This record gives sequence, C-alpha cells and structure tokens, in this order.
Amino acid sequence: MKIKVQNIPVDKIKCDLLVVNLFEGIKDPGGATGVIDKKLKGAIAGLIKAGEITGKLCETNIVHTQGRLPATQVVVVGLGKAAEFDFDRARKVAAAALAEAKKIKAKIVATIIHGAGAGGLKLPEAAQVLVEGSIIGSYHYDGYATVKDERFFQVNELIVVEIAKSKIKEILEGYRVGHIVAESVNRARDLVNGPANKVTPSYLATEAKKVEGVKTTVLSLAQAKKLGMEAYYSVSKGSKEPAKFIIMQYGKGKPEIALVGKGITFDSGGVSIKPSRKMWEMKTDMSGAAAVLETMRAISRLKVRKNVVGILPCTENMPDGQAQKPGDVVGSLVGKTIEIISTDAEGRMVLADGIGYARKILKVKKIIDVATLTGACVSALGDAASGVMGNNQELLDKLVEAGQRSGEKLWQLPLLEEYKDYSKSEIADMKNCTETGKAGTAIGGLFLQMFTGDTSWAHLDIAGTAYLDKGRGYLSGGATGVMVRTLTEYLRS
Ligand code: BES
Ligand code: ZN
Ligand code: ZN
Repeated sequence: MKIKVQNIPVDKIKCDLLVVNLFEGIKDPGGATGVIDKKLKGAIAGLIKAGEITGKLCETNIVHTQGRLPATQVVVVGLGKAAEFDFDRARKVAAAALAEAKKIKAKIVATIIHGAGAGGLKLPEAAQVLVEGSIIGSYHYDGYATVKDERFFQVNELIVVEIAKSKIKEILEGYRVGHIVAESVNRARDLVNGPANKVTPSYLATEAKKVEGVKTTVLSLAQAKKLGMEAYYSVSKGSKEPAKFIIMQYGKGKPEIALVGKGITFDSGGVSIKPSRKMWEMKTDMSGAAAVLETMRAISRLKVRKNVVGILPCTENMPDGQAQKPGDVVGSLVGKTIEIISTDAEGRMVLADGIGYARKILKVKKIIDVATLTGACVSALGDAASGVMGNNQELLDKLVEAGQRSGEKLWQLPLLEEYKDYSKSEIADMKNCTETGKAGTAIGGLFLQMFTGDTSWAHLDIAGTAYLDKGRGYLSGGATGVMVRTLTEYLRS
C-alpha cells in the first residue's frame, strides 16, 4: 500500500472510499465530517439522528455519495469518547477504516487525520499513529499458499488529506516516522511468521547484512568457540543448521547501548523435548532477534543520533546424538559455568553469551534483552502485556513509558532476592533452571542478571506477546512484531 499526503479539501478528493470520523455523543458533525455531511445533504446527520451512527470506538458506517462528491463512498468511523481518545485509539480507528475498505474492495482510500483537534493529539503524532495503524492494521502474511483468496486483497493507495497548507510539513514529519516504524514491525512479523525451514540462522544473517546504514558481522561457530561462548554454541550442537552469532552496529562511535535478541529459529526443547502439541509455534522463538534486527533498520532509517549495537545469538535447538544433555556443564564468555538441568531452557543460555559479548567485548554501558523466554510469562501476563525486569528502575520506567506511547504494554515483575537460591548448583556456578515450577519468569531474569554485572540492564520477556492465536484490535492473528515500536521509540526519545 502506497501512502501519500495531499494538500486538498476533503470534498475534492477522488477515491473509492473517503474516511471521516465522529466522536461518540456528537449530534451535529463539524470539521471535515461536517463539510462532507453538507455535500451529502445531511445524510450523516440524519443517520446520527436515527441512532445508526453513534461514534462508538471503531464503529464504521458506509454512506454512498451518489455523485455528490468525487469520492464513491464515505465511511464514518467512530472515535469513541473525546476524553478517552489517545494514540492507541487513533491506531485502532485507522485500522478499522482500512478493514472496511478491504471489505468493500476499495483500491484508493482517502482519509482525514484522527484526533488532532478535539482528540488532543499533536499533529505530527496524530499523523504518525494514523500511518502506523493503517500499515500495521492492513498486514497480511503472504506465506507460501499458491492460490490467493480475498484475504490477500490489498488497498493500493492511502491518501492523507489536509486542507491547510501550513500543516503539511508537520504531517509529513509524523508520516515519515510512522511509515518507517510500521514497515519494520511488518518485516519483523514476516520473519516470525516464516517457517523454520526457511527462516534459519543463516537466513537471519543474510537479512541483517542487507540492512542499510548498519555494519553487520557474523561470527561463525569456530569464532564463537574461540571466544569461549560455550553457553551459546552448545545449544546448536544437536542441529545441522549452522549457528550464526550476528552483530549489527549502528552509529560511528563506541556503542552506548546493546539490544540482545533471542534467536532460536526453532525450539524443539532439545533432548528435554517439548510435547508435540503446538510445537510448530516454536518457529516463533526468534521473535526477540527479529525485533532487534528490525529496530536496527528503523533507527538507521530514522537517523537516530545514538550508537547502538544489536546482538542476535541465533541457532536451532534440536535433539540429536551430538546434542547437549541434561546434566552437562558448559562454560560461558564471562567465565561462569552452568549446569544444564533442562535443554529446553536454552534461551537464557544464548542470551548469557549475548549479554557477555556486549559487556566484556564491546564494553557497553546499557543492555536491553528481548526474548520469548518463559512459558511462565504467558501464564502470568497472557498475550496482552510483555514482562519487564532489570536492575535499573529508571531504564525500566523509560521502557514502560515508551511502550505506552507505542501501544505496547509492559508489566514489571520483581527479581526477588529470595529466588536466587533456586539457581544454585552442586557442581557448577549455577543451574540453567529449577524444577520448582514457581516464579519461572523471574527465575529466568535472575539467571540473566548473573551475566550483567553492574551494567544497566532490562530484560523483556515477550513469550506471550510475540504471537497471537487470534487477531485483536489492529493486530491480526500470528506474529505481532512486538517491541519494534517500543525499542525504536525508546531509542528515539
Ligand atoms: N521458548 C520457550 C518459551 C516459550 C514458551 C515461548 C511458550 C513462547 C511460548 C523457552 O525456551 C522454554 O522452553 N522455556 C521453558 C523454561 C523451563 C525449562 C525452565 C519453559 O518456559 O517451560
Ligand atoms: Zn526452550
Ligand atoms: Zn526457547
């Protein structure tokens, strides 16, 4: 879908569908909606009076223009109550309007910007979230089906219309940010939705190398061995797919901040094999790496003035005669030894060396890791909020705020002192997991904390939020691209 901004009155734009809006409770439409209503001889006001159009959030009503406007049809989308309007409602409304366009197979859609007046949003931000909601909301994974049905219908063009010439510059500013961020979100979703026989560690390395403005290096297994990253490469021992430790550097100077993304392209559990029900979903276990890769692309396109390194420890986790076994002990880049209790707790193993690399080799001062780490996080928070933990409250607060602005909920969980004992091992510095079944997400976080030292660190557990069984709001079912928006927003601010 192409998107453009045009300086033109709403009643002059030629399109298949024109999107106008209405706050709940408004009886007499004003602004652009009022202009259109007059051209339609009060048809919208009439439907409001009849109780058919109420302005409830995301409600859509089609009105045929019968030649009274260059637009063939008009859709009135509800904005909900003006006092409750915010960024995320603006995204939802934009997506609802495009869903309607898809339903009536409109190829060219024109829209006004929602909520910049009575909704209280600043114009550039209102334009940004409009574009985000439109692009993220009309995502559909192309996949490998050879016959394309109507689900594949795509709107060709979205025209954002604005009558005031003086506002165009600000709109273009927001449009640019929204466009870049949303494209990265959808690309991350493509990577996660992609099957594990296609999206391999090598594939991710190739994609990472294609990101412009970012210097990407890929460590081979031999190089990882030389650096002592045994926690990482031992996970790959049961797999025939070559492991790739990907390092993406953005900015001229020494990196200030590292984003570390779990890149398990398929998690079978290894020898501690998972039950087969829904095992296919473990192709999404590289969602952290996908989020980091696409955040790197977004900040490069946005020319963010920070030096950032993305670290993607990528491998499959498979059972095999050569695979690591429960009871094995492995070393790590920072020198700590780990007793493997479950080969299925592999995410923390690869992250331990990802974090170690950021801290010891690159001497980074701030680390944020993103991972589909624990099933316990899915039990605790479900699929509507990601878990966040760490050792620096200011950093955690900033991430939560960036999430709020981005429409991604982050919920802090405590790294309680009391649970540290659970990771004690009789024969190594620590165990990779416990068999208590309690506080699994925090125990995963506490394990990672043993590798961060005093470095400021935040851990984002996206096990529940990376993939939706069923669509919700502007996110369709499947991969969500979660954390691309939050991380980009955090790095931009
Ligand atoms: N990749 C899984 C976590 C996961 C579960 C992600 C569900 C998405 C949805 C992770 O590697 C894992 O298997 N974790 C174990 C840890 C346990 C062995 C301590 C888990 O959560 O059961
Ligand atoms: Zn696992
Ligand atoms: Zn995993």
